[in-house]
Amino acid sequence: MKLWGGRFTKETNQLVHNFNASISFDQRFYKQDIEGSIAHVTMLAKQAIISEEEKELIIKGLNQIKKDIDNGDLVIDDSYEDIHSFVEAHLIDRIGEAGKKLHTGRSRNDQVALDMKLYTRDEINEIDGLLKDLLFTLNEIMKSNIDTFMPGFTHLQKAQPVTLAHHMGAYFEMFKRDRSRLSDIAKRMNLSPLGSGALAGTTYPLDRNLTAQLLGFDGPTINSMDSVSDRDYLIELLSALSTIMMHLSRFSEEIIIWNSNDYGFVELDDAYSTGSSIMPQKKNPDIAELVRGKTGRVYGALISLLTTMKGLPLAYNKDMQEDKELTFDAIDTVKGCIALFTGMLSTIQFNKTELENSAKNGFTNATDVADYLVNKGLPFRDAHGIVGQLVLYCIDKNISLEDVSLTKYQEFSEKFEADIYDAISLTSCVNKRNIIGAPGQEAMQEVIQMNELYLNS
Ligand code: ARG
Repeated sequence: MKLWGGRFTKETNQLVHNFNASISFDQRFYKQDIEGSIAHVTMLAKQAIISEEEKELIIKGLNQIKKDIDNGDLVIDDSYEDIHSFVEAHLIDRIGEAGKKLHTGRSRNDQVALDMKLYTRDEINEIDGLLKDLLFTLNEIMKSNIDTFMPGFTHLQKAQPVTLAHHMGAYFEMFKRDRSRLSDIAKRMNLSPLGSGALAGTTYPLDRNLTAQLLGFDGPTINSMDSVSDRDYLIELLSALSTIMMHLSRFSEEIIIWNSNDYGFVELDDAYSTGSSIMPQKKNPDIAELVRGKTGRVYGALISLLTTMKGLPLAYNKDMQEDKELTFDAIDTVKGCIALFTGMLSTIQFNKTELENSAKNGFTNATDVADYLVNKGLPFRDAHGIVGQLVLYCIDKNISLEDVSLTKYQEFSEKFEADIYDAISLTSCVNKRNIIGAPGQEAMQEVIQMNELYLNS
């Protein structure tokens, strides 16, 4: 059954029907479609465009259809073009004449714009919840690791000692920003397109404020042509989702490196790793690798939609139907990835001894030796040069800076005294860095308190 058969004298070619139809994927927002229709007819009755009885009949019919789809009694079949036609046809089937009034003052253009907004608004909420779980897990790891020393890296070379709490804290900030990006988008998109008609509004005295309010929007959109052709919020969402994936992918990359034989910083839980069909010794970080791999398809969705939109004249064009599959796929992918990543992270074992040994062996305290000399009155540039030579000496002797004798130190500079050893111990190197943002214990404790306030808000 079609909504637009009247003007046509021939049946649609079957391949054209298949190519044109969206029901195979837009059926996922049948709930939102029905929710929108209920708001629409409630308003139509209030404005005396349809009668109270008609409204009651329509709402009853729509609720019944929703219930039947929910429990599987009504199967959405592919002979309909889209979910909008499916619901309307079934309504007319069930309640007769009154059902034919549902679409008064409405077009599928404002209808689909509404459905997609309602759907993505719900999904943004869910993704936000998943991010919050991830942040909670991160903060738990932080709490128990403010004294777990590890090397901090630049260029994937050991740079300066930090703590595991500090390293995890970096990801905490990233995912916190991701949540705030989602909430910005949710705010900006929260205007109702319903009542924009096909593109030019309608002559019926619709109360757009009322439908907006019934559907939890902050108000109606302001330009009907923009309303039916705006996909900015989806582009913003896909961009935010891409950023989430980028963060997860960087984190995954680190887990993969940390799990490698030569690092051995972490031990993945058996439930979150996989084996090899040929090499019995293997325990592979497949989850992290898949998360890293799936990042590409979410980026792809963003670029795809940007490209689809770039040449479209106002207002609605069928090209826009392409927004759905890629947005749905990106949403599903991101939700799956966050959930799995959180599971993996909450069961991972950090090898504290390995982390600490790695921080000790790699001259991560070289900057602190230089700072020591600066504190004794040397200009930093000179100190830097002296410590460079010291490091060279240590590499040659295959020892670390803590192993150099005081007499040897003094050969490099007479400013060195016995307190050098205390100054460059891992504990001092980390815990003297106590300004906000730094890895020192006191600073981290403050951050963890802030995290807790944030998570409880
Ligand atoms: N399936 C269509 C979409 O997703 C619904 C809107 C159809 N409107 C139209 N004028 N053909 O965009």
